Amino acid sequence: MELPNVMEVINNHRTIRKYKKSPIPSEHIELLMKAGIRAPSSVNLQAYSILRIVDPGIRKALYEVAGQQSHILEAAEFWIFVADVRRAAKAMEKLGFTPAEPNLYMFYVSTIDATIAAQNIVLAAESLGYGTCYIGAIQNDPCKVSEILGLPKGVYPLFGLTIGVPDEWPEKRPRLSKEALFFVDQYPKEELAAEEAMKAYEASGAIDSFIRRFKRYYSAGGRYEARNKLICHCLEKQGFVVEK
Ligand SMILES: Cc1cc2nc3c(=O)[nH]c(=O)nc-3n(C[C@H](O)[C@H](O)[C@H](O)COP(=O)(O)O)c2cc1C
Repeated sequence: MELPNVMEVINNHRTIRKYKKSPIPSEHIELLMKAGIRAPSSVNLQAYSILRIVDPGIRKALYEVAGQQSHILEAAEFWIFVADVRRAAKAMEKLGFTPAEPNLYMFYVSTIDATIAAQNIVLAAESLGYGTCYIGAIQNDPCKVSEILGLPKGVYPLFGLTIGVPDEWPEKRPRLSKEALFFVDQYPKEELAAEEAMKAYEASGAIDSFIRRFKRYYSAGGRYEARNKLICHCLEKQGFVVEK
């Protein structure tokens, strides 16, 4: 099978939420794992782990936490990415070294490590003809997810990823223009006028959907405020020291 080049894969991306029943052969699973492992990471510590969910009961429990999104049950594969600062600390303990308590900076770095590995896996999967969907909604209840997955201290659940053979090919979703996203040298000095900001979203051609999504997630009293409270609580429970 001839694989498409990387720009083709990037350009063709759409999140897939409907999947055929077909499983993913083990040689492709191996390739996806390799793609994740080869991702760059801060000080090359690879401060993440990936849990491949094969137990239907565990998958169902995660589906419930994530608001019953049907693609979580239907996709051939469901993987959970966790920030993991435990493995390296344990290894150093073996040498008699006392590691620092997990902290917010380590959470930041391990989240970036995990995300880069995940996107490598997404691109590899899409280049093989599979579809994927990130599942951030496990943050509806990260403590529950940690319990379901048996996560020890120093490990925090970040997001899920469904992978499978696409059973839909939706239109590409809109994006902001490069003018809205890229600047030269310094962040623009002039105050961003509300009308200009709105124009950037209008130009993307999906203004109604933008307003809906903003209201639901980013507004005062919206879902992201609620998730923030849960995340701070769960980080502490998982052993990460959140204050300075
Ligand atoms: C961090 C993150 C969390 C996401 N969480 C979900 C989710 O819980 N459920 C879902 O169906 N899609 C989820 N998505 C997919 C986005 O909705 C999707 O990428 C976005 O709407 C753009 O669509 P596109 O990927 O097809 O271009 C998530 C994406 C990211 C990056």
